[in-house]
Amino acid sequence: MQLRDAQPVAVRREDYAAPAWWIDTVDLTFDLDPAKTRVLNRMRMRRNMDVPAQPLRLDGGELNLARVLVDGQGASFRMEGDQLVIDTLPDNFELELFTTCCPSKNTKLMGLFVSEDTFFTQCEAEGFRRITYFLDRPDVMASYQVTLRANKSLYPVLLSNGNLVDHGDLPEGRHFAKWVDPFKKPSYLFALVAGKLVAREQRIKARNGKEHLLQVYVRAGDLDKTEHAMNSLIHSVAWDEARFGLPLDLDRFMIVATSDFNAGAMENKGLNIFNTKYVLANQATATDADYSNIESVVGHEYFHNWSGDRVTCRDWFQLSLKEGLTVFRDQEFSQDLCADASARAVKRIEDVRVLRTAQFPEDAGPMAHPVRPDSYIEISNFYTVTIYEKGAEVVRMMQTLVGRKGFEKGITLYFERHDGDAVTCDDFAQAIADANPESELAALLPQFKRWYSQAGTPRVTARGRYDAAARTYTLDFSQSCPPTPGQAVKEPFVIPISLGLLAQDGRELPLHLQGDEDASTAQSHTMVLTQAHESITFNNIDSQPVPSILRGFSAPVVLDFDYTDGELLILLANDPDPFNRWEAGQRLAMRRALAAITGPAADAAGLDEAYINAMRGVLRDPKLDSAFKELVLTLPSETYISEQLDVVDPQRVHAVHEAMRAQLATALFSDWEWAYEQNQDTGAYSPDPLSSGRRALSGLALDNLCLAARASGDTVWPGKTLQRFKDAGNMTDRFNALYALVSSSHPLAQQALARFHALFKDEALVIDKWFSLQAGAPDRGGDVLPLVKQLMKHPDFSLKNPNRARSVIFSYCSANPGAFHRADAAGYVWWSDRVIELDPINPQVAARLARALDRWSKLAEPYRSAAREAIARVAARPDLSKDTQEVVSRALA
Ligand code: PHE
Ligand code: ZN
Repeated sequence: MQLRDAQPVAVRREDYAAPAWWIDTVDLTFDLDPAKTRVLNRMRMRRNMDVPAQPLRLDGGELNLARVLVDGQGASFRMEGDQLVIDTLPDNFELELFTTCCPSKNTKLMGLFVSEDTFFTQCEAEGFRRITYFLDRPDVMASYQVTLRANKSLYPVLLSNGNLVDHGDLPEGRHFAKWVDPFKKPSYLFALVAGKLVAREQRIKARNGKEHLLQVYVRAGDLDKTEHAMNSLIHSVAWDEARFGLPLDLDRFMIVATSDFNAGAMENKGLNIFNTKYVLANQATATDADYSNIESVVGHEYFHNWSGDRVTCRDWFQLSLKEGLTVFRDQEFSQDLCADASARAVKRIEDVRVLRTAQFPEDAGPMAHPVRPDSYIEISNFYTVTIYEKGAEVVRMMQTLVGRKGFEKGITLYFERHDGDAVTCDDFAQAIADANPESELAALLPQFKRWYSQAGTPRVTARGRYDAAARTYTLDFSQSCPPTPGQAVKEPFVIPISLGLLAQDGRELPLHLQGDEDASTAQSHTMVLTQAHESITFNNIDSQPVPSILRGFSAPVVLDFDYTDGELLILLANDPDPFNRWEAGQRLAMRRALAAITGPAADAAGLDEAYINAMRGVLRDPKLDSAFKELVLTLPSETYISEQLDVVDPQRVHAVHEAMRAQLATALFSDWEWAYEQNQDTGAYSPDPLSSGRRALSGLALDNLCLAARASGDTVWPGKTLQRFKDAGNMTDRFNALYALVSSSHPLAQQALARFHALFKDEALVIDKWFSLQAGAPDRGGDVLPLVKQLMKHPDFSLKNPNRARSVIFSYCSANPGAFHRADAAGYVWWSDRVIELDPINPQVAARLARALDRWSKLAEPYRSAAREAIARVAARPDLSKDTQEVVSRALA
């Protein structure tokens, strides 16, 4: 009988205890060899006198241990699972460990691994223990020196954190490089790279006159795709200095790209390692979206140099301390690079769209957890949209409560207080509040911190009351938050609500707050909700106004207000807050989608003249930017629509969504033609917001024109689209044309897909797009699953490469609900097979995929039972990784 491992144990936040030992210095020597890498680790260690004496327990994973010396003498030790335990030790000693590992077999991509003949490491969160035995926890910070030795012709470039202090040749065609990191760091920030790489280099001078060397390392053929990443890095350095006074603290800052990576990128001190997807771009191979993601991710990793590396997390429950803050910083960075308010608003809308389509479902599902979780089984499962994106919203609310200048003061105080330390989310919030003692944040801090401790998306209900006799308008607010796993009852949150009032003719009204007569008559006001129920009243209101509530999405909540269509049309046409203008359009579309979904089965399409005319008005509005129009004219996604329903029939949602798309395409046919022609750029390619907005809108127009052609039988636009696909001068236009043919299932799509593959067969990132587009294509009669099965047999497919696996499997299971949720359950069965197949290869990727059925319990029958059965099938497997096991067991709980 096969024995199953004991249930993995949960780590609990309340059990945190300081380490019993400190590591002051680490001296690592690597003899790099793909099959057997030798690692010599010499550490100076000392007992932590502040805690009761305990044995030394070092973490390890898949290591071969050859030698353990304490102060140069053989020492007695024992193994407990993956831990190396030494019972008797002096208070200060040198520990020498000699281990080997096998990077070429490391398909988990954690620790030391090989990608395309190059060595890379990934240590966050718990990968360093797969390189050597260590106190692999973020509150143990040490000084590192690292010597790398390898064959010189196979591995000419040898990199690690910090500064290169020595290098030279060794016998037998080998060489070495020695690196010293001037900053103490936790093990998760360690990195090394060795291989055949080339670098784009740039010397920059900081404000204080100090010189720095910036390098972007890639494989030889990719150098022409590094200019944008380098420019993004230069902008990041300048921005952090200008906005927060945080300078680059290293002589040399390196970015290295690898095509095998579980995540987007990693902020190792001075040696960031990136997924190629977030480095490589030229106009022929990358879309505008790729350019903009590269800018954000380069910024994000660079900003971690302070928010993460200089000040790190005490324990992994504090992950949002660095991630929420750093996402906030990269979002602000991207906004600050925008030339105008409209482009800033577009970026904000895009960020909110991610939050609402990915984080809100997470917060309502079985994996819901607070921004600062209370427990985990596998920390890798907690690199989530809640920690990242909701965490960023929590930081943004702090900025709203203390003001932009106050927030900058808070950041300065935070880094003054905690530089070089491993701290908690409480320390962060305290610093922002202490720098702003008169602020509402300081007054409400304990309550505000419920954003860290309570999971779930709060729901704010607002109702308006106009009193004509008194000429007052009152908004009554109430807030509540649904239960989440382990948290049945929630206390009220601190919710900043930015709002304004519009007259029926669309004019913005001055705000006279009752009870605050001297308050200025501003046109926008931020009300801070703290109670379950409260009200605000405005004076001198001559007629029933239209409230614009939650401007700029000032808090991560669901806002319920019983707007009439007429009021939403007024907001859509007039709200000076572009976010709420967009939101009004989304509400109009959502209302129609929900009515069609829950109405009689025959009326799938629910778009009326009023809605169509409003969309035409936006599309034709000469005062609006193309990027903004593209957002307004894009319907809410099937995922977001499904979240509004208690019971989801995914095929019904899909049918209605498709019908609405077709209706919008047909009803606005001549407007789409006009928009397409209006948004052609002739000049040189540039990924700036204005021109990428024009490309986005012309792409949406093309998509609609092909959809309309599908209904009418027109052949002109599909033909033009194919021509556009062939002639396009950049990947954005080319891909948009291909997308339009594929998403309208036009016969010409096959020809275009074949040509696309032939053109880009050597560009892995473009081939990922080719796979992903097909696996994500709209289902016509159940044809996508068979296609996806075919794609997995394509010679270019590989399960071991995360980008490629995601491009097929995730595009189908997580991004194509209409194709995935099949009444015959074949999509779910296929999903469970893929989770089971991936799990032993790469548990992190498998566990991510396992989350595709997070929302199973909301599905209508027969989907619900079939989905549950598929999850149970995965859960029943012996030897599941704890990553995947945690996800499926929570789903079934
Ligand atoms: N810390 C990385 C980031 O957000 C993400 C990451 C996590 C990368 C875990 C690899 C492994 O910037
Ligand atoms: Zn990060």
